[in-house]
Amino acid sequence: MKYVEPVGETPIDRQRVVGRPTPRIEGPLKVTGRAHYAYERHDVVEDPLYGFVVGSAIAQGRVTGFDLAEAKAQPGVVEILTTTEMEALPLGLGNSTTLFGGDVIHHYHQAIALVVARSFEEARAAASRVRVSYARTPGHHDLASIADTAPFAKDGDKGPDVSALGDFEAAYAKAPVRIDATYTTPDESHAMMEPHATTAHWQGDKLTLWTSNQMISWGKDSIANVLGLKPENVRLDCPYLGGGFGAKLFLRADAVLAALGSKRTQRPVKVMLSRPLVFNNTTHRPATIQRLRFGADKDGRMTAFSHVCTSGNLPGGDIENGVSQSRLLYAAPNRYTAHRLAELDLPEGASMRAPGEAAGMMALEGAMDELAEALGMDPVELRIVNDTQVDPENPERKFSNRKLVECLRRGAEAFGWDARNTTPGGRREGRWLIGHGMAVGFRNSIPRKSAARVRLSGNGQVTVETDMTDIGTGTYTILAQTAAEMLGLPLEAVSVTLGDSDHPAACGSGGQWGAANSTSSVYAACVKVRETVATRLGFDPAKADFSDGSVHQGSESRPLADALGAGEIVVDESIEYGDLAEKFQQSTFAGHFVELAVDAYTGETQVRRMLACCEAGRILNPVSARSQVIGAMTMGVGAALTEELAVDTRYGFFVNHDLAGYEVPVHADIPHQEVIFLEELDPVASPMKAKGVGELGLCGVGAAVANALYNATGVRVREYPLTLDKYLDKLPAIA
Ligand code: MOS
Repeated sequence: MKYVEPVGETPIDRQRVVGRPTPRIEGPLKVTGRAHYAYERHDVVEDPLYGFVVGSAIAQGRVTGFDLAEAKAQPGVVEILTTTEMEALPLGLGNSTTLFGGDVIHHYHQAIALVVARSFEEARAAASRVRVSYARTPGHHDLASIADTAPFAKDGDKGPDVSALGDFEAAYAKAPVRIDATYTTPDESHAMMEPHATTAHWQGDKLTLWTSNQMISWGKDSIANVLGLKPENVRLDCPYLGGGFGAKLFLRADAVLAALGSKRTQRPVKVMLSRPLVFNNTTHRPATIQRLRFGADKDGRMTAFSHVCTSGNLPGGDIENGVSQSRLLYAAPNRYTAHRLAELDLPEGASMRAPGEAAGMMALEGAMDELAEALGMDPVELRIVNDTQVDPENPERKFSNRKLVECLRRGAEAFGWDARNTTPGGRREGRWLIGHGMAVGFRNSIPRKSAARVRLSGNGQVTVETDMTDIGTGTYTILAQTAAEMLGLPLEAVSVTLGDSDHPAACGSGGQWGAANSTSSVYAACVKVRETVATRLGFDPAKADFSDGSVHQGSESRPLADALGAGEIVVDESIEYGDLAEKFQQSTFAGHFVELAVDAYTGETQVRRMLACCEAGRILNPVSARSQVIGAMTMGVGAALTEELAVDTRYGFFVNHDLAGYEVPVHADIPHQEVIFLEELDPVASPMKAKGVGELGLCGVGAAVANALYNATGVRVREYPLTLDKYLDKLPAIA
């Protein structure tokens, strides 16, 4: 279906099923252990072998040799594959270095061998006996030391590297109020619960991978390309993922090595990356250095706006696009935004939840807080004064729907923003300094082609089949809700099969595009099912109403199942958006508010209250949408206060490569979180009138925490994370 906007009234608008708070339909399978994740596919393969990946101990150079004698003599070892016995494999989609093969080492913990054994423990033990010799060469591992010479760079093949409008320098020089601030964000790790894992099995020349992957159709094409297979000879299956946050958008070494290990041994082989390998073998969110310069009139209207972001990556890798939201968020006639990319020989940088905006908003919204202070203005009002309803770089182009001002006003009111203390460091409760901070949340909502199959059979039972994934977000439930609503059936009448590459190719889980686009494909398929049913029953498809398991028109009603006399109805359909993204900017909006306490003696922080007020179009399932937002807010607290991959700039690796050293917030760090969704439909963004929420909840939170820390202490820290060593000696004197 070619989507034509605005969509007008649809059966979804009844909201009998869609929009209702609905627990996950697959929840019982998960809590009873019957949901099989990639490493647990004993339901489909028998007698697997276990592969353990050996990672390079150097960051750059060459492998000069392997001594496998001791490893091969270990109990249970069946086979050892080494990288030097084959040519470097072609790159997979989204990979900037080979995942296996050849003697060249591009980054620390690059996969160089796979030990295959009868058990996981035997494979791991033998892997520690693989002796490797290397020729090590130097590399660049310190972004700060090479940032000044980094060339300008685009976001992949999209967007400009430098974007300029009007005359920034002249307007900035003339502005009565100016801010010039440089913020840094560190390398971060996804730290998802389920490590990368694959079970591989060959039957003749056909390969099946039960793997943990967010994007099944990309993964299928990618593994076919990497291994030189015909795509029709590859099947990926991923009914469940234990999180990904972008780390599983692309193929990683577990999938490639499980396939190679299984080919060599002619047995099913399971490979899971050990936790340290997840940190250095896979991808991370790259560190950034961001300079922001704003010039404003005395009333707060920005006349000059500049944001330049520098990040690093391996040759061929992408930028961390910290300026993407800055090209869309605030009006200002004179603008300069740019991105620079340094060549850095660390592990691959790639997408992590809200790539670009998450890091960009931490800097932008901190600098906005500084501007509000310089103006003596309420930070909420500053954002409102600079709101825009059109793309600031292309005023012809409108937002599909933009209710940022409403998010800020309603959020501020619900939070009690007006009651805050406006003198930094000026509120004490015993030993605690209390501060409040806010920031805007902003993240794009991207229209993407997505396909699904809807099967109506039996006594009005519906099956939805698509290669769409549920990364933990609640996809099963919203797809079932959509089909139930469209066909006038209860939720229980719908079953959903996900993650199988034999089914129609969906948009996948990424970029917070999953919910709106995958439900839109089910909507599109159901439109066709309705046409077929209505026609078979002798009704007018344009007038028939589907509800309570029946089809109604005027005073006539017939059970839906009557249409099945001629056999089941099966429809494959996709949703396609044409030039919608060019015509309209689809984005999502939030106001984030945080109350923070800082121990005046020790600098310890406690987040006391958080509130997000969000606009993301129709909220398909308030339960799972809220869950997405509070999870994202939690991630934002981590980004603000604790999360940082410590770079060993001598040897080029992340030192804290485990969940003991890489600190994410735990339950005790997080207070009650309040989430408000504006009751807004976006009739332009998608047929469901919905957008995404999964990344919106993260964008801006870090800055809201940082701004609260400033309000509490009077100390402005521009270097994330805000660990207490950066402000302890600057805290207000204790009386
Ligand atoms: Mo998201 S970082 O596109 O999974």
